Amino acid sequence: MNKKKYFIQTFGCQMNVYDSERVGYLLEGEGYERAKGPEEADLIFLNTCSVREKPAQKVYSALGRFQGLKKRNPRLLLGVGGCFAQQEGERLLERFSYVDFVVGTKEFPRLQTIVKNLGNFGKRQTAIRLEGRVDPYGSLPLYSPRSKACSFVSIMQGCDNYCTYCVVPFVRGREVSRPSREILEEIRSLASGGVKEVTLLGQNVNSYGQKPGGEIGFVQLLEAVEAISGIERIRFTTSHPKDLSADLAGAFGRLSKLCEHIHLPLQSGSNRILERMNRGYTREEYWEKVQALRRNCPEISITADLMVGFPGEAEEDFAATGEMIERVQFDEFFSFKYSDRPQTQARLFPEKVPEEISQRRLEEIQSLQKKISQQRNKRWEGREVEVLVEGRSKTSAEESTGRNRTRHLVNFPGKNFAEGALVKVQITKALAHSLRGEALPRGDLNVVKKAP
Ligand code: 5AD
Ligand code: SF4
Repeated sequence: MNKKKYFIQTFGCQMNVYDSERVGYLLEGEGYERAKGPEEADLIFLNTCSVREKPAQKVYSALGRFQGLKKRNPRLLLGVGGCFAQQEGERLLERFSYVDFVVGTKEFPRLQTIVKNLGNFGKRQTAIRLEGRVDPYGSLPLYSPRSKACSFVSIMQGCDNYCTYCVVPFVRGREVSRPSREILEEIRSLASGGVKEVTLLGQNVNSYGQKPGGEIGFVQLLEAVEAISGIERIRFTTSHPKDLSADLAGAFGRLSKLCEHIHLPLQSGSNRILERMNRGYTREEYWEKVQALRRNCPEISITADLMVGFPGEAEEDFAATGEMIERVQFDEFFSFKYSDRPQTQARLFPEKVPEEISQRRLEEIQSLQKKISQQRNKRWEGREVEVLVEGRSKTSAEESTGRNRTRHLVNFPGKNFAEGALVKVQITKALAHSLRGEALPRGDLNVVKKAP
């Protein structure tokens, strides 16, 4: 008998990518296999994001698209999960008669039961309880990730920071750390399956262990991961600048597997706006942390999130953001136009910035950064870097692709490099968003090394 097939569409952040992998694994436990596309699926799952307006709107258009498939195949199950599902809950079932089930951010483990019940009784369902469950992954079996090279590992859920623009605390709940024993067990199992790189995930990983569930601090957790054999690279995201300790900055110089990259969202370079955002740090404090990181690890690459058009952002506030971009010299950043989100404080702030002004500001910082990235990437030209192969390049099947330790994308000729191999590559050309290079002879290192 042919197996039933599932298709998952993921919106938003890395947390959702991790959750989608887990959902796929759960469905495979129910006898499903992955479909190549939505057309051949018996179950479609949209893992949604509501952090900004744009990804939230995309959910509506995706639902519209899948409605057509559902008309052609009435047995198709359509489910919506994640942050947007958490926020909208029952309303999604009311508004979209063809949606079969809605699963919130903490109820993924109930997915199997929901899917079984739908198969047996056909009753539409919602599971969106936010509080009360300490760890949505604790009861799950250890899973096999999609990639042989790298995997995400969730170390905490939720966020207690209440930045005034942010919906996350309302859709992902209070901050809860996952017990270290479970995290380490999951990483050991990934390592024994051949995974070489893990990225520890949480909204605010620096406060790991300070919240219910955690019994050791974040740096101790990193040390424990460093001791796991088979794991050769450690990354984490996201760090909150206010909680970045001197101890963590020091870990970059000390732990050989900890990769030389940090994602440190700045959001704005203006103290007045940072205060209105409730970020808990000033531009001067942010700059001090950057310097501490570079003192401990001169090679470190720093990326960030930035927002323009926050309510009340005047030209001088925006200019202060430009100054910080010039001063810090990020390797790259993600930049967004502020949008009102439900339940947040900032949606009530009156001084909204007109769309044309936000758009102009966004374009300005992006073109400023493009020059900086290009210039900074030049530092790699002529150097040897260690690349963890993730597969074939997007643009050519004859080329391999992967990332170096500072998380720069590196493409190089050759299609015989195995996914998960560590290859030494000499960089020949720096582009704005990637590096090109040539694999060095007998380039498969397969050893851990504190290298670029
Ligand atoms: N409007 C625009 N961008 C936002 N982000 C979070 N909330 C909003 C919002 N309301 C951005 C922040 C955050 C990233 C994940 O999304 O920059 O770091
Ligand atoms: Fe949102 Fe702020 Fe928490 Fe990040 S730290 S998830 S921006 S509330």
